Amino acid sequence: MIISGSASQVLAAELAAELDEPLASVEYDRFPDGELLASAPGVAEAETDRAIVVASTVSSDAHLELLQLQDAAREWGVSEVVTVLPYMGYARQDDAFESGHPVSARAVARAISPGADRVLTVNPHEESVCGFFEVPAEPLDAAGRLADPLPADLDDPVFLSPDEGALDIATAARDAYGRGAVDYFEKTRLSGTEVEMTPSDAAVSGRDVVVTDDIIATGSTMSEAVALLRERAAARVFVTCVHPMLAADAYAKLSRAGVEAIYGTDTIERPASEVSVAPVVADALR
Ligand code: R5P
Repeated sequence: MIISGSASQVLAAELAAELDEPLASVEYDRFPDGELLASAPGVAEAETDRAIVVASTVSSDAHLELLQLQDAAREWGVSEVVTVLPYMGYARQDDAFESGHPVSARAVARAISPGADRVLTVNPHEESVCGFFEVPAEPLDAAGRLADPLPADLDDPVFLSPDEGALDIATAARDAYGRGAVDYFEKTRLSGTEVEMTPSDAAVSGRDVVVTDDIIATGSTMSEAVALLRERAAARVFVTCVHPMLAADAYAKLSRAGVEAIYGTDTIERPASEVSVAPVVADALR
């Protein structure tokens, strides 16, 4: 039985189809004082040993919903509750970067752990966050899926990551596409919305470029990369990522920068979510 958080309904449905498992009916309510109530009426009657709660923690409310749905599954008495975090919120806060700061990724992992026997999460910013859970937690790699929506006629493509940390994503996307070079820029983050980028000597002039990353949040990283590629006379520039958060004006910012298309997966459900990670999650659950 698949139980979906409100922000992950499309992926949960895809996953139910992949696994040929039922999709629970779920209700999301809010009390007048603002408290949430996410529930799965009828699950207690279902005959199954495993509940799979699928919820991207894209907001504080989504975190709360997840805890409630895990608890509902425990109440129902199944022998295994698997928690799938297609996108793990707060994962980028994986250290106390200044004195007095929390390790927020650890705090949320500790909160999620009691309700789960096993956790799966797709391309967390650093795989080490899986160590913060108090139950077995596995990172899943969906980067190969990023090749799926790309046009078949890319001209002498370069798969480029905006920093060295995302090079494995560019490589996986290139490998899945089947041809092309791989390169990366050097990035220095100046603030939450500003980045400075040092280009590599990658030959991009006249070539199609696919810029790949784990997440597009404010779009600052990608728009800086696109501006450099434009200066260097790249042909078409596509941007693609596993987690299309696309906060605030990120989509418009990238469109204005002149990208050919913006693609992402359904770990975060957005208009750019052109490809599903359901096959990757399903493989881990079979
Ligand atoms: C950082 O290292 C990540 O891989 C992303 O490049 C970054 O978080 C994207 O954020 P933004 O879209 O706000 O630049």
